[in-house]
Amino acid sequence: MPPSRTPRSSGRRRPAAGSRGAGFRGAAGRGRAAASTGRSAGTSASRPRPGPTSTADRRVEVVFAPGLEQLVREELTARLGHPRAVRPVPGRDDSLFFDYADSWRRLLDLGTVVAPFAVLPFAVPRPKSLLSGEHLARLAHTLRAVRRINADAPPASFRFEAAGRDSSVFQRLGEELAAASGLRHVPGEGDLPLRFRRAVHPDHPRDGWEVLVRLSTRPLSDRPWRVRDVPGAAGAPIARAMALLTRPVPRDRVVNLMCGSGTLLVERLLAAPARRAVAVDADAAVLDACAANLAAAGLADAVTVAEADIREPGRAWEASGPFDVVLADPPWGTLVGDHARNEALHLALLERAHAVAAPGARLAVLTHEVRQMERCLAATGRLWEPVGETRVFQKGHHPRIYLLRARHGERHGGGAA
Ligand SMILES: C[S@@+](CC[C@H](N)C(=O)[O-])C[C@H]1O[C@@H](n2cnc3c(N)ncnc32)[C@H](O)[C@@H]1O
Repeated sequence: MPPSRTPRSSGRRRPAAGSRGAGFRGAAGRGRAAASTGRSAGTSASRPRPGPTSTADRRVEVVFAPGLEQLVREELTARLGHPRAVRPVPGRDDSLFFDYADSWRRLLDLGTVVAPFAVLPFAVPRPKSLLSGEHLARLAHTLRAVRRINADAPPASFRFEAAGRDSSVFQRLGEELAAASGLRHVPGEGDLPLRFRRAVHPDHPRDGWEVLVRLSTRPLSDRPWRVRDVPGAAGAPIARAMALLTRPVPRDRVVNLMCGSGTLLVERLLAAPARRAVAVDADAAVLDACAANLAAAGLADAVTVAEADIREPGRAWEASGPFDVVLADPPWGTLVGDHARNEALHLALLERAHAVAAPGARLAVLTHEVRQMERCLAATGRLWEPVGETRVFQKGHHPRIYLLRARHGERHGGGAA
């Protein structure tokens, strides 16, 4: 196997929604659209703008991985133009709400969010009252709007997430909503969840109910570009958050060390184009998955994929450096890797990343090996200046994103800038 190669695609391919086959050059020209989840929103000038019908239904809630609130807020500001009064949902560390009157379609491009929901408040004492024509019409309108904004992959069905969802009341509600919306009610398995809960938003009727309707057919975290998964793959919203933490700009030369299935690099390139992008991993099988995902994201031509042990200096991929941004998600010692050997690997990562870093380069590392990482940071303090630390929650773990900046004054390897 040569040390460096162009991506090979393998496995099932889906065209990357939103990417339209754009390679590196195309990606560089995608501008605002580049900062999407890789979904195509589609347009339909002749249809009414899909969004709330009444001011009562302007409320939106976005759900995210705990720990990402600040980055989600920043993305909402950047993409939606300063939505007013973004507030946490009482009692939750994974949700924000705000009022939003524009097309819901724009919410499908949020990269740091797991899923956006429309929140419909009802001043009713119990869900049975939602069978009334007026309430049912609001719910049906919302389902039809969700189908329109997801024109590429519209939902065919819905399901209820509620205490008592198997009751005769919910069965009837399901039948009537199916007739009014054109979507099937498939208990437990329908595409779109409708969550019923007693009102929690501070300005909603205290004794009323809220119905949350997911605005995307699938959670936004299920990226259309992910055609191949590997054990230990990073969650896409967390990967997007890592990319945003590095303050991406198009002149960045980016390397993803220990890239696995390529999540960090794909999300970096969807957040903003890059001057150069390299993915490195020691495992040929995961590199196949990485190549397939890059191809599905329309980024195959944008990235050099290299099979190499990152601990070994002088490998061919280094000639593409130096790099302004280094992204890494080393093994956590659970699904991938070995806890006993991870400290040496983290240390090697910090040293090798610095060897290929341009002056002032940003390094973002996602790791679950917090104590090991802290020791390694202490040992490499002359190389990396800690800039920030973000605690996140992913798949039952509490990893951290360490953001570091390459210190000046050391010799940097990896070629001329
Ligand atoms: C946690 S996984 C990365 C997952 C990746 N972020 C993704 O989303 O798929 C860690 C990766 O490190 C790679 N790896 C471990 N030791 C390595 C080394 N010495 N050199 C290069 N890659 C290595 C493994 O092959 C594995 O793909």
